Amino acid sequence: MSRELLIKLREQGGLSRPEFRQLLAAHEPGLQAEAAALATALREQHYGNRVFIRGLLEISNYCRQDCFYCGIRCSNRKVQRYRLSPEQILECCEMGYPLGFRTFVLQSGEDPGYSDELISDLVREIKLRHPDCAVTLSLGEKNFSAYKAFREAGADRYLLRHETADAAHFGRLHPLKQSLQNRMRCLQDLRSLGYQVGSGFMVGSPFQSPQTLAEDLYFLSEFKPEMVGIGPFLPHRDTVFANAKPGDMNLTLFLLSILRLMLPKVLLPATTALGSIAPEGREKGVLAGANVIMPNLSPPEARDKYMIYNNKLRTGAEGAEGLRLLAEKMRAIGCEIAVDRGDYPDA
Ligand code: 5AD
Repeated sequence: MSRELLIKLREQGGLSRPEFRQLLAAHEPGLQAEAAALATALREQHYGNRVFIRGLLEISNYCRQDCFYCGIRCSNRKVQRYRLSPEQILECCEMGYPLGFRTFVLQSGEDPGYSDELISDLVREIKLRHPDCAVTLSLGEKNFSAYKAFREAGADRYLLRHETADAAHFGRLHPLKQSLQNRMRCLQDLRSLGYQVGSGFMVGSPFQSPQTLAEDLYFLSEFKPEMVGIGPFLPHRDTVFANAKPGDMNLTLFLLSILRLMLPKVLLPATTALGSIAPEGREKGVLAGANVIMPNLSPPEARDKYMIYNNKLRTGAEGAEGLRLLAEKMRAIGCEIAVDRGDYPDA
């Protein structure tokens, strides 16, 4: 019965909300294993054994937003704030290129200290120095003209998780001045500008329910993002949700498989949060259908300060040695790290 739902999801690219709820309610180890087998077969069909790497640059932890779950929310006065200079960011790219990185992801809080012009200039410079690389931005909610300027400067992709597709749930995770409506406006703007767009959500965020999760899956089945980032919610001690329980690894893995079945070509990272919650979390993610890993290329001082949750995975995958280790781990599960931009097929 539930296996039929997995097949139906694969054949139709979506399910009704009640069917998604039914599938989630049926989650147990046997079904999870079946979902993973179907998902990895699809991943192999579209991508072979190739896993794409993205060099993650955490360029600033200043943030004007106050998301209740996030360690770098503006009301957390304990954070040592930092902002990398364009020169420092370019240096990180210079270091990453010879290691095989062909995508650089510039991620930050919503930092008013970077003007739209500065970001645009930076994107232009990275593309000039590395014409064969993709630039992905993950800088939060901006207005249309900012997204347009970044795109015209050469940015290829943009990551902006919707966090939850249920407006009431969104309201319990964010202060009043943030809204699901504006988040959705941003995603539409990004799509209309021709970005490859990434969205996603945390698994096990406070007040999440099978209903809200079904809504997330339904939204993603309709929006069809080119990339989807999901990872377990992990509490941060200086946030509203300090004592909330972390998200479940197996539910995350099951959802990764569901996403692969639903969006067969999606670029699906085994996220840092997944790697942080369990040893070999990222390998397990790839074995559930993920095909992207995002090693951290930020300078070590920045990495320590970009604490969106406690006990964040701190691998040295940035160095040649660290990347060699990652490649070995991927080989051990039958995969190969690709030196490639790793675009969405036919993007
Ligand atoms: N646990 C897990 N993920 C988190 N994020 C923010 N805070 C946490 C947390 N405490 C995720 C959000 C955001 C992305 C950059 O990190 O989904 O979009």
